[in-house]
Order: sequence, then C-alpha cells, then structure tokens
Amino acid sequence: MNIQDISTKKYFVFDAFGTLFKTSEVKVELTKIAGDKTDNLINVWRNKQLQYTWLRNEMNQYEPFSTVTRDALVYSMRLNGIADEKVFDILLPLYDTPQLIDGAKDLLRALKNHGKTVAILSNGTRSMLDNGVQLTGIQYYVDHILSVDDIGVYKPRPAVYQMALDQLGATVEDLIFFSSNQWDVSGASVFGLDACWINQYGETKEGLPFGSVVTTKSLGDLAAYI
Ligand code: LAC
Repeated sequence: MNIQDISTKKYFVFDAFGTLFKTSEVKVELTKIAGDKTDNLINVWRNKQLQYTWLRNEMNQYEPFSTVTRDALVYSMRLNGIADEKVFDILLPLYDTPQLIDGAKDLLRALKNHGKTVAILSNGTRSMLDNGVQLTGIQYYVDHILSVDDIGVYKPRPAVYQMALDQLGATVEDLIFFSSNQWDVSGASVFGLDACWINQYGETKEGLPFGSVVTTKSLGDLAAYI
C-alpha cells in the first residue's frame, strides 16, 4: 500500500493508548513522591502492562485491562521501592480518564468531515474507552468503540483484528488500522489489515514481522492523506 491510498479507505480504526491517548504524562505530584525514579516507574509500568497482556493471552488468563494496568503499577512501585498509595491516584487516571495526544481531535474531525467511519480498537475496557471518548469530546467523531473485553483476549491475537472486521461489517480492502505501538502494527498487518504506524515517539523499527504498512511521523501529518 502507498500512503496516498489511505484516502480510498472507508473504515479508519485507531488504537487508543499511546496512539490517541497519552500514557506517560509526568505530573509534578508524582515527581515529589518518586523523585529520580519517576521515569523508570512509568516506563516499567507501561512495559509490564503490555507484557502482562501478552502473557495472559498465552495462559488463557484474561483479566480486564484495568486489573492488568493496576497489577503492573504495583510491580513497578515494588521494583522502585515506592509504597505511597497516592501514586495510584496520580497514574491510574491516565487510563481511567485519559487525555488526548496533540492533533488527535483535528484528525478525527477531518475524517468525519470526509465521510469516513471512525472506530477505536483497544485493549482498554469499555468503561476506560467510553470515559476517554466522552471526556475528551471526541464522541462526535468516533462512530464505534471496540474493546477486547468482548472476546477476552488481547492484541496482537488475530481474533482481535478479526473482531474489528466482524463488528464493523468491513472487508480488509475497506479498512486501515492506525497505531503508534509497533507490536500492534505488526499484529494487525500480519493478520492481513493495511496498517499505518504513527511513529510519534521517534522509535527505531522493531525486528518484528510486518505486512502492508505505511508510516507517518504524527497524527497531524495524516491530514494530508485523507
Ligand atoms: C490499546 C493499548 C495497546 O489501547 O495501548 O489497545
């Protein structure tokens, strides 16, 4: 697929956390508690959260993303020697009441103005996603919120990308999937979807299998192709 072909697509399906919603906003209150461990606390938390979803997939031990997210934070706090429970109140809202990444609202609005169908496909629970969409004011631009809660397995299991096709009634030709998470882009594209890697964190390309993938540097850059 060429990046110009994005405009021919009908269904625009977005990953949520890290792609549309921020996952690493460092708060002043957190630095007061965690000091020079703040960055490590957050990075280990996110990495473990993802790792736990994949391990739970392997073990057929699905628990909602809210539980996995808390379990990962408990681990990261233990690792960093931080016991102050205020950390939960500071960090868990990143997922329970998420904030938009710059450029997300403009992009989604532009897609709606072009008559596209917009969906979110996320590991997040339905309540996380509903809250995020409502609180950030993108409910006018998002037609469908698809949560892995419906099938009890996490991305990048092929069943999740199949669920998107099934629930949207879309064909692979009509749909493009967007994510800033490379493992998610890998999973979607190997499943057979056209995918766009939004490399908004300037990451190095992973040594994973990739199918049909185009790359942009930011959500804002996509506006030129819709
Ligand atoms: C999601 C995780 C992968 O929103 O960030 O699905």
